[in-house]
Amino acid sequence: MKILIVGSGGREHAIAAAVAKSPKADKIYCAPGNAGIGQIAECVPIGAMEFDKLTAFAKENAIDLTIVGMDDPLVGGLVDEMEAAGLRVFGPRKNAAILEGSKAFSKDLMKKYNIPTAAYENFDDPQKALAYLETAKMPVVLKADGLALGKGVLICETLEDAKEGVRTIMEDKKFGAAGNRMVIEEFMTGREVSVLSFVDGKTIKIMSSAQDHKRALDGDQGLNTGGMGTFSPSPFYTDEVDAFCRKYIYQATVDAMAAEGRPFKGVIFFGLMLTEDGPKVLEYNARFGDPEAQVVLPRMRNDMIDVVEACIDGTLDRITLSFEDNAAVCVILASEGYPVSYEKGFAIEGLENFKDKDGYYCFHAGTALKNDKIVTNGGRVLGVTAKGATLQEARANAYAATEWVHFDRQYMRHDIGKAIDEI
Ligand code: AMP
Ligand code: GLY
Repeated sequence: MKILIVGSGGREHAIAAAVAKSPKADKIYCAPGNAGIGQIAECVPIGAMEFDKLTAFAKENAIDLTIVGMDDPLVGGLVDEMEAAGLRVFGPRKNAAILEGSKAFSKDLMKKYNIPTAAYENFDDPQKALAYLETAKMPVVLKADGLALGKGVLICETLEDAKEGVRTIMEDKKFGAAGNRMVIEEFMTGREVSVLSFVDGKTIKIMSSAQDHKRALDGDQGLNTGGMGTFSPSPFYTDEVDAFCRKYIYQATVDAMAAEGRPFKGVIFFGLMLTEDGPKVLEYNARFGDPEAQVVLPRMRNDMIDVVEACIDGTLDRITLSFEDNAAVCVILASEGYPVSYEKGFAIEGLENFKDKDGYYCFHAGTALKNDKIVTNGGRVLGVTAKGATLQEARANAYAATEWVHFDRQYMRHDIGKAIDEI
């Protein structure tokens, strides 16, 4: 089969690596891809939002299956456009990707179908939002409605901060049109877990759990980022938590989307918080997590193409997902200054050290080829990933492997997976 993957980050590298393991994959393309993906796929210089060009490329090259990794093209309707051209595509249509594309939509869905989540109100008028804050309990969480690169969430400790936040989102439009509407919700405390799932419109199959570290600095200090590292499975995702989520969250979400006339096919990412009152949904994403995919997919035993095709065909009930009984840790090597400002174009040394090392992966997030050398090309540069029999072992392996590569102004967190020592 000929497969096209849409995206250019570490997640798409992990997807491409999983697809490449399938005996069914004869040829893999990635648009636009990056230097690491280019080692297992042919990168085509088409942007993820260039829907017409992607569709034309898939037609001309007789692509059998397209996998869309990123949120923007999903929310923008790439799947609809490619399907209309008669192509087979994995990912939710626009009317289902709204689960991620609008926080107000997803909160209303959860309320309507009794799916546990933080109490909230939606606003499209800043004056009403400001008035509501006068009676709200602090801290409070403000969320721009639309996609904002994971940055549209403000946690405000005081009424003054919260008012300032409403103005930032709705009046100054710091997150652009994403802030035309906003959600104000109750602040929850607890441990966060990411659960990814495959969905075929009616059936949902859960992957092994993971946990992300979103803050830039050690000890969960600093700014929110796209994710500085992950581990899988999460030891906090116990059988009891799993049973609760299966009963009240997973199938309920899939059924709710179907009942709304928005059947969801693709990956639903459940961002959960394990509160004292039980697990609650923090957010939904309509795609694999990044860098969650980097620790979950290498542990999956199934043929990725079989699972993806079952989602498209509505036959996921016939698939049993299976994961290795081990653990994986991914440490992001970032450019100093990320997520604010950073330089690009530094040569990356030592990538060859990962060649033929079983259980070790160097997923490229922001890299490019310059004069035949691989150079840094983003805030998050590499996702150094290793497996181990236990989480502790996987963590030791991943940190050892971070020593194999080097680039100038390299930055990483030193405590990825450290929380697991608490139990
Ligand atoms: P989101 O994009 O909705 O996942 O929010 C980003 C991050 O903000 C989450 O991973 C949480 O750490 C935090 N967050 C979001 N909503 C809440 C909430 N209601 N209470 C506490 N923290 C939250
Ligand atoms: N790691 C969080 C995300 O992919 O949104």
